[in-house]
Amino acid sequence: MSETKITVRNNGPLRVEGDFVIYDMEGQAFDLAGRTGISLCRCGHSENKPFCDGSHKRVGFQSEVRARRLDSPTPPAPLPA
Ligand code: FES
Repeated sequence: MSETKITVRNNGPLRVEGDFVIYDMEGQAFDLAGRTGISLCRCGHSENKPFCDGSHKRVGFQSEVRARRLDSPTPPAPLPA
């Protein structure tokens, strides 16, 4: 099984490469026409969501990130009795 690689591009989209399937909320898979890589919009301005259409450049989206360690997940709160 090959790895799925997701790269957070500075000032741009999430680049997804490798083996992956993208589903909508009804569980239907997008037909990616054989693509092995695709960019997902991170700026919120694409006219083709969830895919990047380059609008991040037009709107001057700025977000530079570096890999970092996250805090441990918070356990869910107990349900009220
Ligand atoms: S990240 Fe490219 S259009 Fe939003």
